Amino acid sequence: MSERVELFEVGPRDGLQNEATPISAQDKIALVDLLSTAGFRRIEVASFVSPKWVPQMATSADVLAGITRSEGISYAALTPNMRGLEGAITARADEVAIFGSASEGFSKANINASIEESLERFHPIAKTAIERGIPVRGYISCVINCPYDGPTDPTAVAKVARELHQMGCYELSLGDTTGHAYPEEITKMLCAVKDVVPDAVLAGHYHDTSGRALANVEASLQEGVRVFDTSIGGLGGCPYAPGALGNVATEAVAVRLLELGYETGLNRDVLAQAARFATSLRGEAKV
Ligand code: HMG
Ligand code: MG
Repeated sequence: MSERVELFEVGPRDGLQNEATPISAQDKIALVDLLSTAGFRRIEVASFVSPKWVPQMATSADVLAGITRSEGISYAALTPNMRGLEGAITARADEVAIFGSASEGFSKANINASIEESLERFHPIAKTAIERGIPVRGYISCVINCPYDGPTDPTAVAKVARELHQMGCYELSLGDTTGHAYPEEITKMLCAVKDVVPDAVLAGHYHDTSGRALANVEASLQEGVRVFDTSIGGLGGCPYAPGALGNVATEAVAVRLLELGYETGLNRDVLAQAARFATSLRGEAKV
């Protein structure tokens, strides 16, 4: 039997958050409902952030209320602070994610906090969510480069990884936010992180600005990573990482993994249909 690799679909959140043209909650719901038939176990559909910072995510509660939930799928939401967590709980998100950075510049630009302040902010979010039985995922952005500070030292990534793991994050998603990483850099960073947390909790979150995200997925497979965040149609980007393009496309990663002999459990026809629909929603990106 082929070894399993899981793709965590982040298109409805990371994919759409950067679109300048407002996308209706109805269209987002239709995209999520379609993705729910593709075979994913986890789909990130919402983000309870300030609507002033990311207007596109202002309809997150409507999206969570409107989707047809499939049994066995965890519908995830980003929660930057306690207010975001309350929103996610009220909207019945199945899991939440706290999102920090390995670089100070991006931390400040993205969530208006230093790394230390952000970790302090995350503690009560993780504690409260876990007490309520809600799994918490941890993102670390800028694990290779920062748009503000330049190259990131792998030890800085390891430091944040250890903290988020100690807070109880069940998985750590390592973000090449700018999408310029080389496979050798990914390997070096993963080795540093694997020194402080178990391999099994790591996920790769690679944006594809320089077209090397698939190579970075392959480098990560070599290091034992078996979960990757991908975005249908390759949509996405972070409004606070100027110039960064979308996540590596779900449909492209699914094909490559199959060629490499891995099983994803995803239906390629549904992925193709969802990619066409997601792309049709695209307006003019902010960056
Ligand atoms: P702040 O300005 O420091 O916070 O922002 P504040 O507490 O002073 O609040 C400012 C305003 O936002 C206030 O409203 C609050 O009420 C409101 P006002 O009084 O001005 O009318 N507010 C909220 N509204 C709704 N929901 C909330 C909330 N919190 C405050 N939860 C804050 C701090 C964290 C809120 C802000 O910086 C923010 O929302 N940042 C989010 C940025 C973001 O979403 N970025 C994209 C996601 S991260 C990403 O894409 C990277 C990732 O994909 C991995 C990778 O690729 O590397 C995950
Ligand atoms: Mg991202």
